[in-house]
Amino acid sequence: MREELLNSSAEPAEAAEETTLRPRRLDEFVGQPKLKEHLEILLGAARKRGQAVDHILFAGPPGTGKTSLSGIVAAEMEVALRVTSGPALERAGDLAAILTNLDDGDVLFVDEIHRLPRVVEEVLYPAMEDFQLDIVIGKGPSARSIRLDLPRFTLVGATTRTGLITGPLRDRFGFVARLDYYEVEDLKAIVVRAARILGVPLNEEGANELALRARGTPRIANRLLKRVRDYAEVRSDGRVDGDIARDALALFEVDELGLDKIDRAILRALCVTFAGNPVGLGTLAVAVGEEPDTVEDVYEPFLLKQGLLLRTPRGRVATSAGYSHIGAPEQIGPDGRARLFDE
Ligand SMILES: Nc1ncnc2c1ncn2[C@@H]1O[C@H](COP(=O)(O)OP(=O)(O)OP(=O)(O)O)[C@@H](O)[C@H]1O
Ligand SMILES: [Mg+2]
Repeated sequence: MREELLNSSAEPAEAAEETTLRPRRLDEFVGQPKLKEHLEILLGAARKRGQAVDHILFAGPPGTGKTSLSGIVAAEMEVALRVTSGPALERAGDLAAILTNLDDGDVLFVDEIHRLPRVVEEVLYPAMEDFQLDIVIGKGPSARSIRLDLPRFTLVGATTRTGLITGPLRDRFGFVARLDYYEVEDLKAIVVRAARILGVPLNEEGANELALRARGTPRIANRLLKRVRDYAEVRSDGRVDGDIARDALALFEVDELGLDKIDRAILRALCVTFAGNPVGLGTLAVAVGEEPDTVEDVYEPFLLKQGLLLRTPRGRVATSAGYSHIGAPEQIGPDGRARLFDE
């Protein structure tokens, strides 16, 4: 369930549907009005000058539209989009091969750019700044370095972790756009759009219910819609209204805040298993049977944002709201406050 609701690597048919649902142009992209306006100006100005757009970094939680926006930048500029990712570029030569095959104006999208190896990142600096590539030919004393001119390309990077992007790399982006969790109204518009594309009869109340439980994330809103559609087709006449949505989501164990089993397991570990003591990320991940990276990237940001979890220098703790959400008695220290540190 968790995988279906949160991860991007769903089964092929679902992946194909995600592609269908991806907004292609800026005006199909719902929400984030400030960001859209900034992008419009950036793209419009570049178009007017007949130049490539400045390098752009999209940073934000998983499923909030970074990959979609990279496609939109290329589509709006009417240029080709080349896609790669940080971990796929293992050696400097991998990047050099891609860069030398670009055309003027092309968009090179590097997903998970925070996972770019250091040696590759260093090749990227002069490429981004001066559109030049330094390559070393030969080995040992006979090795020599040559400098190649590159086309004027646009690098679009995406990251879920701005904190992991090195300063020199971040400084080379002309525009850093932060995506945040979406408002309920925007998520509602996103599921209504997806329902129209997928041909799912969805009423206002149904859309509202999905939007409220989508953890502020468009991808999850669309996933919930698909699960609820399945439920409606099997248990009813295929129409999705408020009752059907609520019943289906209860069955799939997505609660009123949009928390799923793992989110609740995290809160339970903090409140009950570790009795209110601060817990390190590694320990917490083991306790809920997840990878530390997944806990940190996927689960924690939303729990933090909802004010259910806190990060302290000693580790993670649940807030009062966290305790009450899972109905656990708050662990109170001798001073009458929630016990944040071991005494
Ligand atoms: N603003 C939006 N309007 C409409 N649909 C959206 C929007 N943002 C995202 N989506 C939907 O959510 C899906 C996931 O978005 P996308 O793949 O762009 O997220 P991402 O930020 O790249 O995620 P990840 O960090 O996991 O790579 C898209 O296929 C699209 O259907
Ligand atoms: Mg993506």
